Amino acid sequence: MDREPVALITGTSSGFGMLTAVKLAQLGYRVVAGMRNINDKGMLLERARRVGVEASIEVVRLDVTDEETVERVVADALTRYGELDVLVNNAGFALGGFIEELSMDDWRRQMETNFFGLVAMTKAVLPHMRVRGSGTIVNIGSVSGRAGFPGYAPYAASKFAVEGFSESLRHEMAPYGVNVVLVEPGAYKTPIWSKGLAHIRTSADSPYANTLQNVLNYSERAARTAPDPQQVADLVGRLVRVRAPRLRYALGQGAKPMLWAKALLPWKWFERIIRMALK
Ligand SMILES: NC(=O)c1ccc[n+]([C@@H]2O[C@H](COP(=O)([O-])OP(=O)(O)OC[C@H]3O[C@@H](n4cnc5c(N)ncnc54)[C@H](OP(=O)(O)O)[C@@H]3O)[C@@H](O)[C@H]2O)c1
Repeated sequence: MDREPVALITGTSSGFGMLTAVKLAQLGYRVVAGMRNINDKGMLLERARRVGVEASIEVVRLDVTDEETVERVVADALTRYGELDVLVNNAGFALGGFIEELSMDDWRRQMETNFFGLVAMTKAVLPHMRVRGSGTIVNIGSVSGRAGFPGYAPYAASKFAVEGFSESLRHEMAPYGVNVVLVEPGAYKTPIWSKGLAHIRTSADSPYANTLQNVLNYSERAARTAPDPQQVADLVGRLVRVRAPRLRYALGQGAKPMLWAKALLPWKWFERIIRMALK
């Protein structure tokens, strides 16, 4: 390619999104880095500056739940750069709590960002990618999109939705040369854990209090021992350069054994393993 390829990434204020923005810039991409609050751009730009790619990153205000902004950001990027080669749908959060105790607003909020936001971003880039006959859409799913754990039902539901959406999208886009890829990380050390755990709703007299405490202990343990999220950014960096990528790329702590166990073991055995892990 003789021009600078262009990537649009959502949720770049921290975690995978921030690291992926720097990674793609290092690989020669012009990166349009979306974040909800522009004032949070310090960490991204400092990291980019340290490796000499600050000039390749343009930070834009982008809340994926705001449809008008989504469309405007994509249109502006196309006006400025002419092409959009890669979309990384990364923005998301994890809502914890037990189903009975979460409000319908909580459920909707989770789906608005993790699922409908991703749909809106995808719809906004499709006309362009379809007409030019190329492009890659990377959806950051999760192992929670392959197996539902107690205490995280809204998150699991939103990530299962991303899985089904990505399968359909991949079929629909294959004739137009647009790649669709799902990255399915296990637990990684990013701020998602503290943000999600901080908002868990429960009360001292909750019938779920004990189980919730076990889930919280498990999550805190996972967050503490989780690997470096740079692995995910590096994987995305490799995937966007693969001509015919697979649909799914699972990685990280326990991700592959968990998926194998779910595929091969009788469901009741699998449930028992999850129960034991949460004790
Ligand atoms: N870390 C893990 O263990 C793990 C495992 C599997 C999958 N994932 C997935 O990886 C993705 C990135 O998460 P992370 O771990 O890197 O956590 P993170 O550091 O909390 O990053 C999440 C990013 O999404 C942004 N965001 C949240 N709601 C948004 C909205 N409505 N519009 C635009 N941006 C929004 C956040 O912005 P603010 O700073 O404004 O909140 C932040 O920049 C998520 O989709 C998550 O589900 C994470």
